[in-house]
Amino acid sequence: MRKFAFRAPGRVNLIGEHTDYNGGFVLPAAIDLYTTAVAESIDEPRLVIHSSNFNETHEFNIEDETPRGDWTDYPRGVYVMLRRAGVKLTGANLAIRGDVPLGAGLSSSASIEVAVASSLIALDLSEDEKPTTQKSLNLALLCQKAENEFTEARCGIMDQFIAVHGLVGRAIMLDCETLHHTPAPIPTGLSLVIANTMVKHALAGGEYNQRRSECESAAKKLGVPSLRHATLAMLPTARLAPSELRRARHNITENTRVLQFVEAAKHNDLATLGQLMAASHASLRDDFEVSCPELNAMVEAAQTLPGLIGARMTGGGFGGSTINLVHTEDVPAFREQLAAAYQRLTSITPQIIVTKASAGVHACSI
Ligand code: GLA
Repeated sequence: MRKFAFRAPGRVNLIGEHTDYNGGFVLPAAIDLYTTAVAESIDEPRLVIHSSNFNETHEFNIEDETPRGDWTDYPRGVYVMLRRAGVKLTGANLAIRGDVPLGAGLSSSASIEVAVASSLIALDLSEDEKPTTQKSLNLALLCQKAENEFTEARCGIMDQFIAVHGLVGRAIMLDCETLHHTPAPIPTGLSLVIANTMVKHALAGGEYNQRRSECESAAKKLGVPSLRHATLAMLPTARLAPSELRRARHNITENTRVLQFVEAAKHNDLATLGQLMAASHASLRDDFEVSCPELNAMVEAAQTLPGLIGARMTGGGFGGSTINLVHTEDVPAFREQLAAAYQRLTSITPQIIVTKASAGVHACSI
């Protein structure tokens, strides 16, 4: 039986939050935490999925396309979408293990989807008969579709895209309307420090989809195809509900901040990077309303510490993590002091992860 293993990274977004599903700009980096998927073809029409993290094994008929409302929907959604896209898949054993923390806003779900899709495609690619559809198969879009249709999350393209296209030592500036993407430098001497608040508020999923609907209705009222095309000058005369106005304003200002951030990074303008991250966090807190007391406490605590260039929440919000750009020589003291300050403020012990921008999905040993 043929067997293939692929691993796909989680991600951290430097700036450009809640802009991806509005055709805007994002600046994520893949991180050095991964999900590994091992796929083995079997002769029966069964999909057997084992997760080492949950220590569970579940079995499905390959014709069954009904979501179950648990973790298996992520790998199964991918399997179903691949078959619908014309990839010839028979039965398979799928073993999944990962070290991307779950619920930390670091895209463990996209890393599962992309690792699973890559290992399943490899099974099919080694067949004699190779459908040409595979060559044009856009892995990131397929995985996003799997998540949109198999789980309740109407997520954008950022997480799956960076899990596929991540680069060592670089962030990726992605235009989510055209999917045009360019590597962006991370200034030398700076480290990416992720601070996991260790909370994930239950309302996250519903609020996420609600934000997306509010953005769509704001764009419609503004007469633009997406908020990517809105400008601040349009807002005063538009008949937007107060919440729609705030969502639109966040998107317009956040897109500008992403472009400014990329320029500032090129010119090593660290002060501007810090200001843009602070403004992004404030906008997510006040205009987009996706922050929470724990994320605010983590950002505020970081802002008092030596070595910090900038701090903001990263990912969908309502808990999860912050991203901190920190002078590398200050990282040991920074992580200790941040953990202590957050614990003092919230009585919660955070998880501090020092990460490196890393490569997107790749084959690995079994
Ligand atoms: C989640 C989604 C992404 C993106 C971010 C917010 O991570 O999966 O598509 O919308 O939230 O920027």
